[in-house]
Amino acid sequence: MSGTVVVVGSINVDVSVTVEALPRPGETLMAGSVRRSGGGKGANQAVAAARAGGACTLMVGCVGDDGDGADMRRSLTASGVDVRAVTTSLDEPTGTALITVDAAAENTIVVAAGANGVVRLDDVAREALAGADVVLAQLEIPQTVVLEAARARREGALLLLNAAPWAPLLPELLAEVDVLVVNEHEARGLTGHDDVDEAVETLLADVPAVLVTLGAAGSRLQRRGEDAVTVTTPRVTAVDTTGAGDTFCGVLGAALAAGEPERVALQRASAAASIAVERRGAQDAVPTADETTRRHDDTYGGPTG
Ligand code: RIB
Ligand code: NA
Repeated sequence: MSGTVVVVGSINVDVSVTVEALPRPGETLMAGSVRRSGGGKGANQAVAAARAGGACTLMVGCVGDDGDGADMRRSLTASGVDVRAVTTSLDEPTGTALITVDAAAENTIVVAAGANGVVRLDDVAREALAGADVVLAQLEIPQTVVLEAARARREGALLLLNAAPWAPLLPELLAEVDVLVVNEHEARGLTGHDDVDEAVETLLADVPAVLVTLGAAGSRLQRRGEDAVTVTTPRVTAVDTTGAGDTFCGVLGAALAAGEPERVALQRASAAASIAVERRGAQDAVPTADETTRRHDDTYGGPTG
């Protein structure tokens, strides 16, 4: 393992049901079964980074003093994530996401933040951030904590901010970002531009690089004043897209921390996300490094594409 990824973010238990079509307001629907599994954008990205191999992954987060918290710690550890900087809140329960997925793989997600709202950086977190190559963050925890983490990272460490779910960003946080990762919806929300190209241009006034994930259309990394790097995505049949963006971000972070060229890192991230959408759940759907390599080579032709 050559690099270190520190993920600063949320840890949730996902409570998911599958239905034929998403319910409309006022409607009551019956679902076949309910499943509880590991989720939270932060934890999903940490699991993806750890399973990608190549880099050590440490998670900074907070769970409740409850069975869900213990389960989430255990499952993160089992995936190879270092949880020494995951703290426990005595007041707030472990975060919970209520997820509904329909037959067309569309979903709705409602999150009760719980302990994610009171996450803080302890000494272990600060020490890890000071030694990280890549810091990965999302917006399911307070932006002030993300900002603190960004400022605690060593000179030269990359801050990848996945603005999900999107919210207006603190100017001080924007000033720390090396790569802003957004999907089309988030790019629009952050800028008010319907056109993705215009949205990216606007974002590039504040951050040096924007990576837009375009679902089945692939992804595009645009650096200020440079040609874009565009990567296609493998064609697959989606069953459940929950956490696919997180798989993308985690694998990307691990590949960059391990020193892979940007294009290869994007390809590995796309390959892994394409596998994640073929499987149910968030963390449960994250592929192993070998599975990602196979999909990568089948899609892009060989290790370097
Ligand atoms: O990005 C998917 C995740 O969003 C789910 O795992 C859920 O916990 C919510 O945080
Ligand atoms: Na999935």
